[in-house]
Amino acid sequence: MLIRRIASDLERAPALVAERGSALGLPMHLLASTTSTNDEAKHAAKDGAPGGSTWVAEQQTAGRGRQGRAWVSPRGENLLFSVLVRVTCPPSRLPPIALAAGLAVRDALVLAAPEAAPKIKWPNDVLIDEKKVAGVLVEAVTAGSRVQAVVIGVGINVHTRDFPADIADRATSLALASRAPPDRAAVLADVLTCLDRDLHIVVARGLGLLRLRLEAADALRGRRVRSDTDDEGTASGIDDDGRLLVRRDDDVLTRWSAGEVHLV
Ligand code: BTN
Repeated sequence: MLIRRIASDLERAPALVAERGSALGLPMHLLASTTSTNDEAKHAAKDGAPGGSTWVAEQQTAGRGRQGRAWVSPRGENLLFSVLVRVTCPPSRLPPIALAAGLAVRDALVLAAPEAAPKIKWPNDVLIDEKKVAGVLVEAVTAGSRVQAVVIGVGINVHTRDFPADIADRATSLALASRAPPDRAAVLADVLTCLDRDLHIVVARGLGLLRLRLEAADALRGRRVRSDTDDEGTASGIDDDGRLLVRRDDDVLTRWSAGEVHLV
């Protein structure tokens, strides 16, 4: 069933974004339902939509996550949005942009629930108590070998309290983790403001200036990790190109650039 309305809490979001002076988030398109807010942003990018345009949906009928997975979220409970960023850069900048987006989401969740101590799980999941509370999907609009625009899609579990049995032990929400009742408009405005603060630095200079903050937010650092291809070692930080540093048992420092990481 499609819903026709946007809940009134989200209707406050454009005014909050304007108040914070963020260059990202406006114009904001509030949608009752769509296939995927990333689809909306990618189509609009090709039709000339301005950078900063943001699509927020109460429901997605074909929401997607990284690595071909689906992103399923009960309608009206959570945050599902995509921001169009007009940047021209080589594809090598995409992993740093995705990490900066994950950091912006994490920082906004710290503002919403400091006691929950949200962390980033490389490359850009956000965890609370080792369970996933948010994910980021960055997709590029390209012309030849250059990136012409970037779509940053974010899913944050805000109000959901009951997760399907197959993910219940791996998923959480702000409502489950925070003392105060979460405010979707404030979280959305905070993510956009944090992203606006960091994004252009990362596009121009890479991750170097975010290093200390990334280190402080890194859920994997010092932990034993395994890749999808069964490589193993100790997570030892993130390099300026956005790769995960992993020290193998023979003391060789390796750099992982793709795939999923599992805590061992
Ligand atoms: C992941 O953790 O795998 C990334 C999840 C990203 C989900 C968001 S929800 C809004 C935007 N639209 C989509 O279809 N995906 C992203």
